[in-house]
Amino acid sequence: MIEIEDVSFARQGTPVLQDISLSIPAGGVTALVGPNGAGKSTLLSLMARLLPLETGRISIAGKSVAHTRSDALARTVAILRQDTLVSSRLRVGELVGFGRFPHSRGRLTDEDRHLIDDALREFDLTGMADRFVETLSGGQRQRAMVAMAYCQGCDCMLLDEPLNNLDMFYARELMRILRDLADRQGKTIVIVLHDINHAATYADRIVALRDGRLVSFDRTDQVLVPERLEQIFGYRMEIATVDGQPVVLHHR
Ligand SMILES: Nc1ncnc2c1ncn2[C@@H]1O[C@H](COP(=O)(O)OP(=O)(O)O)[C@@H](O)[C@H]1O
Ligand SMILES: [Mg+2]
Repeated sequence: MIEIEDVSFARQGTPVLQDISLSIPAGGVTALVGPNGAGKSTLLSLMARLLPLETGRISIAGKSVAHTRSDALARTVAILRQDTLVSSRLRVGELVGFGRFPHSRGRLTDEDRHLIDDALREFDLTGMADRFVETLSGGQRQRAMVAMAYCQGCDCMLLDEPLNNLDMFYARELMRILRDLADRQGKTIVIVLHDINHAATYADRIVALRDGRLVSFDRTDQVLVPERLEQIFGYRMEIATVDGQPVVLHHR
């Protein structure tokens, strides 16, 4: 479980998060949505202590993010930041193996190698393990980065816009893998998504921010109503239901 209590944060004197409180239950996929600049990346960074907490408290699986040693925190929560750059002279297997760093400190054990193979398999990258990252397509590269975060072996994964620049095929493939990891392994996945229909299809619940404030936190089907979407995104959308699944439509 992720507990966020009374979190506020300012950048250069401007508040970018204000009085955020929510508790995300363990297990499942939580989509973090909201317009550009809403504070999504800032909130994720605070959750993984990439930024220091100024006001409020955050704990993950009972560990206070502010007061937990870095090595213990790195075994609790893995984060993939928005626009992470990797050296293209790395092989895919090496990149994924970086996820083991908090455990191995660079000296991989047999168990680490086993877990790297496992991560490659989960993300359908086994056949690409020896290829240089630069030879992958954008979709495969993005999948390798998420595999690296997975390989860290944490119950909780925070993913900031991992679908960026992916075509529909690769976006769907990655969402299906993440959904499967939540279902089979009980992973707690918090993922920043821009396409509300990805949230509609794959997320159990939605956290919506706007202008640094929490505007919705509820089950996916409860958030996917026109009034609430308008509150979040600032314009009216329609919701249709296809095979029991909500689909968000935009007016011209
Ligand atoms: N490094 C930074 N320095 C100053 N302001 C920043 C920085 N990063 C983000 N901001 C500002 O903080 C606000 C929230 O940004 P961010 O958390 O990146 O939003 P989102 O991820 O929802 O697009 C925005 O107004 C943005 O301009
Ligand atoms: Mg962002």
